[in-house]
Amino acid sequence: MRLVIRIGGSVIASPVNVELIEKYAHILKQLKIQGHEVVAVIGGGKTARKFIEIANKLGLGEKDQDEVAISISRLFAQLFIKKLEKISCGKVPTSLAEVTRYLDEGKLVVMGGLKPGITTDTVAAMVAEKIDADLIVKATDQEGIYDKDPRKHKDAVKLDRVSIENLTQIFERDKHEAGIHQILDPEAVKIIQRARLKVVVVNGFNPENVLLAVKGKRGIGTLIE
Ligand code: UTP
Repeated sequence: MRLVIRIGGSVIASPVNVELIEKYAHILKQLKIQGHEVVAVIGGGKTARKFIEIANKLGLGEKDQDEVAISISRLFAQLFIKKLEKISCGKVPTSLAEVTRYLDEGKLVVMGGLKPGITTDTVAAMVAEKIDADLIVKATDQEGIYDKDPRKHKDAVKLDRVSIENLTQIFERDKHEAGIHQILDPEAVKIIQRARLKVVVVNGFNPENVLLAVKGKRGIGTLIE
């Protein structure tokens, strides 16, 4: 399968968790050994946000702040690339064209952000659309997608499966509550809808969940299709 594995900065970089980075590097390698074509998109999490804050205090504009955050996400991608040695793409791709070139060369691709004004979720969706991915797995700091913001509503229920249409409805309902938007960026959802991409959102603090999601195990996180 062609896979896009979106590893949340909230999981590996908030704070930086070396053990988890190592586990994810191992999991990406396993997926490659299993014969999958893999693009991993890494976020910068709190570390990136810290640098956004620094840039902001320096009086830099939003574009510059984003560029700094992108650099942080690419730094994390670089750690993966170094750790994965020869099976990886060697350098962090900075365009979709580079991603496809490395994939065509049989490399395991690891990347961060692409351009200011978007999120890493949107990057993952853009890549998935470009390479016609079979599945996006998003490893995040929640169990999956809930019918409402679980931090505000005690009766919020984790959904095992949600259609893209229903997801859009939940987003509409939840418009003024930041919760769900932190799980999956609405900009990314638009691309997911347009390209009919399949997504599984899992709790990334247990990296094995990514392997289970790829195997198609039901009930792990939330399946969007
Ligand atoms: P994200 O908020 O997308 O990554 O990027 P994350 O830390 O993995 O998020 P979780 O784990 O899903 O919560 C951090 C910031 O980097 C900038 C944006 O400012 C974004 O909010 N960024 C990232 C870009 O400007 N462009 C990109 O392509 C990617």
